[in-house]
Amino acid sequence: MKYSEFYSFFPCFIAFLISFSLAASAYNHEHFLHCFSLHLSNTSSISNIIYTQNNPSYVSILNSTIMNSRFAISSSTSKPLIIITPFNASEVEATVVCSKKYGLQIRTRSGGHDSEGLSYLSPVPYVIIDLRNVRSIEVDVAEKTAWVQAGATLGEVYFRIYEKSSTLGFPAGLCYTVGVGGHFSGGGYGILLRKYGLAADNILDAHIVDAKGRILDRKSMGEDLFWAIRGGGAVSFGVVLAWKIRLVPVPSNITVFSVVRDLEKPETKKLVHQWQYVADKFHEDLLLSVRIQAANSTTKGNTKPLLQAFFNSVFLGRVEKLLPLMQKSFPKLRIVKGDCFEMSWIQYILLVNGFSLGTPPNALLDRSKPQGRPMSFIAKADYIEEPIPEDVLEKLWKRLYEEKVGIASFQLFPYGAKMSEIPESQIPFPHRAGNLYEFTYLVRWNEDGNVTATERHWDWIRNAYAYMTPFVSINPRGAYLNYRDLDLGRNNNKGTVSYAQASAWGRSYFKDNFDRLVHVKTKVDPTNFFRNEQSIPPLPLR
Ligand SMILES: Cc1cc2nc3c(=O)[nH]c(=O)nc-3n(C[C@H](O)[C@H](O)[C@H](O)COP(=O)(O)OP(=O)(O)OC[C@H]3O[C@@H](n4cnc5c(N)ncnc54)[C@H](O)[C@@H]3O)c2cc1C
Ligand SMILES: *[C@@H]1O[C@H](CO)[C@@H](O)[C@H](O)[C@H]1NC(C)=O
Ligand SMILES: *[C@@H]1O[C@H](CO)[C@@H](O)[C@H](O)[C@H]1NC(C)=O
Ligand SMILES: *[C@@H]1O[C@H](CO)[C@@H](O)[C@H](O)[C@H]1NC(C)=O
Ligand SMILES: *[C@@H]1O[C@H](CO)[C@@H](O)[C@H](O)[C@H]1NC(C)=O
Ligand SMILES: *[C@@H]1O[C@H](CO)[C@@H](O)[C@H](O)[C@H]1NC(C)=O
Ligand SMILES: *[C@@H]1O[C@H](CO)[C@@H](O)[C@H](O)[C@H]1NC(C)=O
Repeated sequence: MKYSEFYSFFPCFIAFLISFSLAASAYNHEHFLHCFSLHLSNTSSISNIIYTQNNPSYVSILNSTIMNSRFAISSSTSKPLIIITPFNASEVEATVVCSKKYGLQIRTRSGGHDSEGLSYLSPVPYVIIDLRNVRSIEVDVAEKTAWVQAGATLGEVYFRIYEKSSTLGFPAGLCYTVGVGGHFSGGGYGILLRKYGLAADNILDAHIVDAKGRILDRKSMGEDLFWAIRGGGAVSFGVVLAWKIRLVPVPSNITVFSVVRDLEKPETKKLVHQWQYVADKFHEDLLLSVRIQAANSTTKGNTKPLLQAFFNSVFLGRVEKLLPLMQKSFPKLRIVKGDCFEMSWIQYILLVNGFSLGTPPNALLDRSKPQGRPMSFIAKADYIEEPIPEDVLEKLWKRLYEEKVGIASFQLFPYGAKMSEIPESQIPFPHRAGNLYEFTYLVRWNEDGNVTATERHWDWIRNAYAYMTPFVSINPRGAYLNYRDLDLGRNNNKGTVSYAQASAWGRSYFKDNFDRLVHVKTKVDPTNFFRNEQSIPPLPLR
């Protein structure tokens, strides 16, 4: 087995062809800047944090964290009137107050991985608050906590924890470029999910700027708002400045394997089918996910497509303990010692991000966009409550052959253990007991900005998603906010949301927690200042 097989499922990055033309509104730069300077005690820094469209750095700042090249900058993509890159709370506060005063919407961007580009695109005149400079991390090893500012990336979080302790970690996603501002506020899952739950399950406190421009912490915001921003999408409620997180123990050696099986073979088809019955019941220290994708096999100069199943596992312990566990829980996968690698937690993070063995962990601090992988993507998610029949799965896998250009894959990510213990209403993220696994559809491709290609990929993923309808959760059909899906209750893209539309996607993402989110929104932002195509609407609806 080669280490290269460990590449994580999601290419560590993502974009949508919304072409909005900016209404040249009554907005006036001078007035906005004047307002801005009035709200700051120290105005000498303004030129370092404000980028208007004629600033030479405007395009590169805007581009720097567009993580889905479906939204690559072109003459037809929407662009902000101003980008503000604050260093501290008072500068965020001033942006909120002045944007409100001059009728501009705010798009808050931390890591820029939003599947639909909502952190940097808007159909109405807007300002981007880009939190690239708000990213300090303070780790308290004794207390096993950390304060993490919203603009930090997961790579920075993992590295700063590792610097202080190699046996502490945090249960969040794997891709090191993902920003904690969006990720934690939408849930956030990774390989520690079965033992410790989501990132949002492990947040202890937060600092947020609300619609009135006030800086609040857990105590001053109250438990309702603190509940809402952990999984309900903080974007509907304000701008998160920082999170206080609970660190979790990780052993100094973890054991990982990634084995690939030929999915043309009947025994592999059976294996994947059986996986559905066992993966959510494994020991909490064991997480075994499955990724299905097509590859090319070349024999005697003939290239033919081949379906492959990757079984990727992380075990929080040594190999001697893993082997009997696999033998007991899933003997048919026939895992042997030679398949397994012991390594530290931080080495595993490096590995799944494609860094070669021996790369110093501070590589995770690099904030530049990774190069050289297909960059345009579309993703969708489902939740599976009952094992899916083998023949149904087989027909779905065959669809991977249809995707002529691009790389499509399905990922089956197991739930159970801790995820089943947390009540559905503890935080807004509701998909807990009763879910066997999360099913993700992902298609990536290279022809940025080619509308024909983009449409083809949409058709493919929508067809696969429609095919699965009878076999996934219904009423509502579950979805995951961090894999934002504008097909759910698709609206008119004018930035307004009808209650029926909101309720459609709202219940998919949050089930009955949607009602409490609407209640909190009505209380803290009744005029709906913080909004986007899928924000929580206040009552009465505007
Ligand atoms: C390559 C890749 C890998 C991924 N891997 C995983 C994974 O392993 N596990 C997982 O759960 N998800 C994963 N995701 C999904 C990811 O969690 C979401 O896209 C997440 O919202 C990204 O956060 P961000 O800050 O990078 O994105 P952004 O685009 O900056 O923000 C996403 C949303 O949050 C809002 N927002 C951002 N910052 C703030 C803030 N400070 N205050 C209020 N609102 C804010 C934005 O306005 C936007 O609506 C992945 C996505 C990609 C592209
Ligand atoms: C905010 O940061 C700026 C630098 O951009 C600095 O000049 C100012 O004093 C800071 N304000 C506060 C309240 O820390
Ligand atoms: C004001 O900001 C500038 C630039 O950031 C900084 O050099 C200066 O020290 C700040 N002054 C005060 C009083 O904070
Ligand atoms: C944006 O960045 C990408 C690299 O990530 C680059 O290929 C592209 O040319 C940039 N676009 C602009 C308009 O600068
Ligand atoms: C298989 O090969 C064809 C032709 O070279 C290529 O277009 C396609 O992208 C390849 N598919 C994969 C999954 O590598
Ligand atoms: C396993 O842990 C031991 C002690 O904690 C350490 O010395 C060793 O380097 C680790 N092995 C690997 C492969 O990380
Ligand atoms: C877009 O892709 C299609 C194939 O999907 C191709 O026929 C067409 O030439 C491409 N258009 C451009 C402008 O590259």
